[in-house]
Amino acid sequence: MSARVVAIINQKGGVGKTTTSTNLTHALAKMGKKVTVIDLDPQGHLAVSLGVTSAQVSGIDEVMLGEKNIEEQTLAARDNLQLIVAGPRLQEIEQLTEGGAQRGDLLRKALHENLQDQDFIFIDCPPSSGVLVANALFATDEILIPMTSDFLALQGLSHLVGTIKRFERALKKRYTISLVMSRYATTRRISKEVLSTMLKHFPQQVLATVIRETSLLAECPSFGKTVLEYRPGSRSARDFRHLAEDFLAGKVMK
Ligand SMILES: Nc1ncnc2c1ncn2[C@@H]1O[C@H](COP(=O)(O)OP(=O)(O)O)[C@@H](O)[C@H]1O
Ligand SMILES: [Mg+2]
Repeated sequence: MSARVVAIINQKGGVGKTTTSTNLTHALAKMGKKVTVIDLDPQGHLAVSLGVTSAQVSGIDEVMLGEKNIEEQTLAARDNLQLIVAGPRLQEIEQLTEGGAQRGDLLRKALHENLQDQDFIFIDCPPSSGVLVANALFATDEILIPMTSDFLALQGLSHLVGTIKRFERALKKRYTISLVMSRYATTRRISKEVLSTMLKHFPQQVLATVIRETSLLAECPSFGKTVLEYRPGSRSARDFRHLAEDFLAGKVMK
């Protein structure tokens, strides 16, 4: 069995990519799945959110630069959950202009026949559509798109879909795409409208559980804890446990 590789992508910042990466992977790990999560954002917020704060340590950067094997770069973050940090040189890769298509293929090659004992490899992407995101799109067949429930996020989504389609044509493959409402503001009227527009454009692709907007989720990163350990009884923890179940079962909104 080889690992399912899932890229968590949205070129818009602040939509919940890192929050989803942190809490969904921890929820899956707690359900007994073996999970590796890669921080592909030079800002390194995933590591901070998981309470791993050794900024000098190299990570996926030196793997992609061909200096380290990916297996040597894994850090045990929680039971069943390992983290590969971004590393200080990841920004260099985002700025690579040499190498043509090869510079997009660094991550796929690094993953090839590695981490075979894992059930899932998640990639937390940066908010851009540059070389790093191209690497994630080369490396995976599966995409999870976190979305907020506001109008401008919908606009951004059509741009993202355009990017994904370009890659599908160039790489001659089809991605399995799912979406998660990762910052759902239950009290706002616009939220329902955004959600129903999403369901029209992405039928059978929006995961059944929405992650509600709560101040608790915004607090967790400052403690370096996932919501499942910071407030395991909270509704946010419940949202992520249900989301993990949906993700495994492919349960979507009707
Ligand atoms: N459901 C939510 N409720 C409240 N705050 C959230 C929620 N999801 C994310 N946040 C907060 O919003 C900010 C951006 O989220 P983040 O996951 O870092 O987005 P991205 O990785 O897409 O840039 C962070 O401060 C995070 O704590
Ligand atoms: Mg992020």
